[in-house]
Amino acid sequence: MAGVQLKFSAVEAARGGLTIPVRGVGGSWIVKLPSREFEGVPENEFAMMTLARLIGMDVPALQLVDLDSIGNLPVGIGALNGRALAVRRFDRREDGTLVHIEDFAQVFGVYPESKYEKASARSIASVIGAEGSDVDIVEFIRRLTFNTLIGNADMHLKNWSLIYPDRRRAALAPAYDFVSTNPYVPDDKAVLNFSRTKRFDRFSEDELSHLAAKARLPNKLVLDTARETVALFRQYWNSEKAHLPLVTTVVDAVERHLETVPIAG
Ligand SMILES: Nc1ncnc2c1ncn2[C@@H]1O[C@H](COP(=O)(O)OP(=O)(O)O)[C@@H](O)[C@H]1O
Ligand SMILES: [Mg+2]
Repeated sequence: MAGVQLKFSAVEAARGGLTIPVRGVGGSWIVKLPSREFEGVPENEFAMMTLARLIGMDVPALQLVDLDSIGNLPVGIGALNGRALAVRRFDRREDGTLVHIEDFAQVFGVYPESKYEKASARSIASVIGAEGSDVDIVEFIRRLTFNTLIGNADMHLKNWSLIYPDRRRAALAPAYDFVSTNPYVPDDKAVLNFSRTKRFDRFSEDELSHLAAKARLPNKLVLDTARETVALFRQYWNSEKAHLPLVTTVVDAVERHLETVPIAG
């Protein structure tokens, strides 16, 4: 990724943030620049996405890059500290052609009976259960459990997408935007309801069974997947936390948070 040149486009404007599409070695990437407000967010995201991959989730290629190696940074963005996170785009093929993806804000916009305000992990799960395969259900429950364990309060509708590799069948798109947000903005709840509650301290097997029943997902598959995710999370968290680019404040915040999540107990 050394010497990637930023290429500005309408996509950048639409994202409105410090997430910028680039063409680089090995195809198309997006680069997420460091936050001016919080330290080490790209490192946090790199670490959480790496853990997610180790646990078995579908995570695109990623790497931390020095800001100096990024050519053509927008003028006027001011001084930035730390590294940026480059993530390989899953909505582009090797040859640059587009793969259709649709985030859940768009999905629920198309079906107005699932109101945006009423959207929840449960309503996302219903769509995945109806449109996807067991692989997608397992992947969804792993991600929901994982993001709850790490204290990511920010898994809103735009952080979940469907992908249409063959233009017809829908599958859950690869993972993105996994960040432990609790160390920066302590919060005791997720942005979306799980099934009946947003509260991290009510994310239990009972809450997951309720979600499974209402979303018509197989209960045993959901619970087995959540339990396996907790076990694998503990294994990889313990073996990797000292080797991942995580500052102690983040490690400590995740460990304090874990004690409050029933399913982790
Ligand atoms: N690897 C990727 N490939 C293609 N599109 C992506 C990828 N990662 C994120 N996106 C898209 O870009 C948007 C912004 O990325 P995200 O990681 O959510 O950053 P932000 O922190 O700006 O929300 C997402 O909502 C998604 O639509
Ligand atoms: Mg996002």
